[in-house]
Amino acid sequence: MSAVGEIPVVTIDGPSGSGKGTLARRIAAQLGFHLLDSGAIYRLTALAAARAGVALDAPAVVRVAETLDAQFLPDGSILLAGECVDGVLRTEQTGAMASQIAARPEVRAALFDRQKAFAQAPGLVADGRDMGTVVFPDAPAKIFLDASAEIRAERRYNQLIGNGFDAKLPALIAEIRERDQRDRTRAVAPLVPAADALVMDSSALSIETVEAQVMAFILTRGLNKAH
Ligand code: C5P
Repeated sequence: MSAVGEIPVVTIDGPSGSGKGTLARRIAAQLGFHLLDSGAIYRLTALAAARAGVALDAPAVVRVAETLDAQFLPDGSILLAGECVDGVLRTEQTGAMASQIAARPEVRAALFDRQKAFAQAPGLVADGRDMGTVVFPDAPAKIFLDASAEIRAERRYNQLIGNGFDAKLPALIAEIRERDQRDRTRAVAPLVPAADALVMDSSALSIETVEAQVMAFILTRGLNKAH
């Protein structure tokens, strides 16, 4: 089996709201693999910078990235400097701040090893924007999950309302378009499918259908369930 340093890695990249986070969780559970939500690392860095009073375009953000005190607990909750930040981490504002710092090459470089370190036995499912192109380019199974901006905004709207946040659909569509544009056109690690990725559009598909097709693809790539 081909693998990253002997550890099998599945990468799932795509724009925000494509369903890649949900898909990654379900695939990791099916395979019995660890999970890396790389977007959370960018979100945590942006949040840590804001809390330290560091401007998002200041050189000091790199130091914030290097010294990030983050913990990913087995129950899925995330701590920043010991404090649970699950709620604020998922807001559109934090996502937009993450996208700004993520456009800076030196910030990406500072977070590179931290992401690589998630590749632990028996295997890893990593979701983000550049998992298959930059962080785990040798991964044996790469997926790129897309969906229209309107569908992604609608899913995000339902998620936010469901979690008790206030949201307006037209504003969400505009924000998603703006963040996509920045992520797809940035000079370093832009959001593009890896040459050997399975590209899927989830606009008209249920999560169950996507999951079944992706699992079938993964098994053809020589990866096996850990349990
Ligand atoms: O996936 P999520 O929406 O949590 O990511 C937040 C932001 O972090 C993205 O808009 C993107 O700019 C950045 N990001 C990135 N590379 C990754 C994961 C996220 O640049 N691998």
